[in-house]
Amino acid sequence: MRQVLSVASECAPLVKTGGLADVAGALPGAMAAEGWQLKTLLPGYPAVMEALKRPRALRNESDLMGGPARLLGGKVAGLDLFVLDAPHLYDRPGSIYLGPDGKDWPDNPERFAALSWMAASIAAEGIGNWRPEVLHLHDWQAGLVPVYLHEMEAADRVGTLLTIHNIAFHGLAPASKLKSMRLPQWGFHPEGFEFYGQIDALKAGLKFSNKLSTVSPTYARELMLPEFGMGLDGVLRARQADLVGILNGIDGIVWDPKTDPAIANYKSPKKKAANRGRLIEEFGLAQTDGPLAVVISRLTEQKGLDLLLQALPEFVARGGQVALLGSGDAALEKAWMEAAESMPQVSVRIGYDEPLSHRMMAGGDAVIVPSRFEPCGLTQLYGLRYGAIPVVAMTGGLADTVINANDAAVAADVATGFQFHPVTADALEAALMRLCDVYSNKSAFERMQRRAMAHPVGWSASAPRYAALYESLGTHP
Ligand code: ADP
Ligand code: GLC
Repeated sequence: MRQVLSVASECAPLVKTGGLADVAGALPGAMAAEGWQLKTLLPGYPAVMEALKRPRALRNESDLMGGPARLLGGKVAGLDLFVLDAPHLYDRPGSIYLGPDGKDWPDNPERFAALSWMAASIAAEGIGNWRPEVLHLHDWQAGLVPVYLHEMEAADRVGTLLTIHNIAFHGLAPASKLKSMRLPQWGFHPEGFEFYGQIDALKAGLKFSNKLSTVSPTYARELMLPEFGMGLDGVLRARQADLVGILNGIDGIVWDPKTDPAIANYKSPKKKAANRGRLIEEFGLAQTDGPLAVVISRLTEQKGLDLLLQALPEFVARGGQVALLGSGDAALEKAWMEAAESMPQVSVRIGYDEPLSHRMMAGGDAVIVPSRFEPCGLTQLYGLRYGAIPVVAMTGGLADTVINANDAAVAADVATGFQFHPVTADALEAALMRLCDVYSNKSAFERMQRRAMAHPVGWSASAPRYAALYESLGTHP
């Protein structure tokens, strides 16, 4: 098998804050079927160190950005891992990105510079006789890799692909950190990785990786517009020829309503009823004739859940109910808890709960994703697979994965969900009214659920596209 080193800051099932982890965890399985073996380099967070039973020590560094570090190798949950064990950077409790004050750890630049430096060093020197042909870099946390490769004079030994999962996060650092991050002065320039006076790790990756991808075709186009590019749209326009959008898939073993251990299993939408009943009970809601919609999300500006708050009164007036699971911004958490207090049709769980997220997809009639931007989005894909009809903003991957129930699609019986545009509370409310309309026609709604459940959401289309990209970068024919 041909060899790839995938470099990510999170990876399911070991450590996860969002969809990046799902994708980093699912890609190795998907790409093995295409003849590419992915090994994944991860930071040695406590959860990763704990999962790594009997690791092999592969390398020692006496000083990696402020302390000693070891590179470990091992296999966990079917994944081939390299783990960067650097206690001064990663051995801390709580969130992997945020300190107890809810702000980024102040040394995040060094934490992920160290990860990137190690990735470059593995590619430059190999581990024993193992060497990757391709480095698959994910988001800003791996953005500096091509700079370090250049410094190690190894840029021609390996192909680099940077995948943008979310351009909102640049990984900025003050210029005063150039030295502690082992970065060369030559790159600190608007044509390099400088961004308005700061070091920008994502920009480094966008400028110097051989190829770029993002996680949906629509987001690939949106990224080149000022409204979506977060200041890097010009950089991306300049690299348009090297940028492609490849849709994420879901892990079809973890997310399968026929075998999911967290739910009452089912093959057809009719059999969702048992799960729906339990979910209503679990959230303290009522049996009504309207749709039960679920939300499973980080509570941030991106996800547009403030818009849903505004649309709630009309939705519940039509018999709709909402169960929300999420955490994030304190103000949004508070607003949602207040909504739940004032409306018996709304129930909220603040927190992070993987099994509950499965029960919600299984019990929900619909899943609402009103994002202002959404590179791909995975929850609408889980909704399709589980027969929870997506009600989504028409943006990014949400635009590419749902067939909108417009008049033509309804007449042809091909719709799998509801899309709205522009991303406003009014447009969302109108989409929720359309959901209520179709829901009131039981057989039409069930047909929509059947189509949703049959819609392909795995990796069968996307894995060959990544394989073609790897092939175009590979160093050994
Ligand atoms: P993003 O990566 O922007 O957060 P995605 O839709 O790609 O959005 O992925 C989010 C992932 O995180 C999904 O697997 C979703 O089920 C999961 N998730 C988000 N919030 C929670 C939560 N509070 N509890 C459990 N899972 C969650
Ligand atoms: C990011 C995006 C999300 C995408 C995920 C995995 O977190 O916000 O849309 O699905 O990465 O690519």
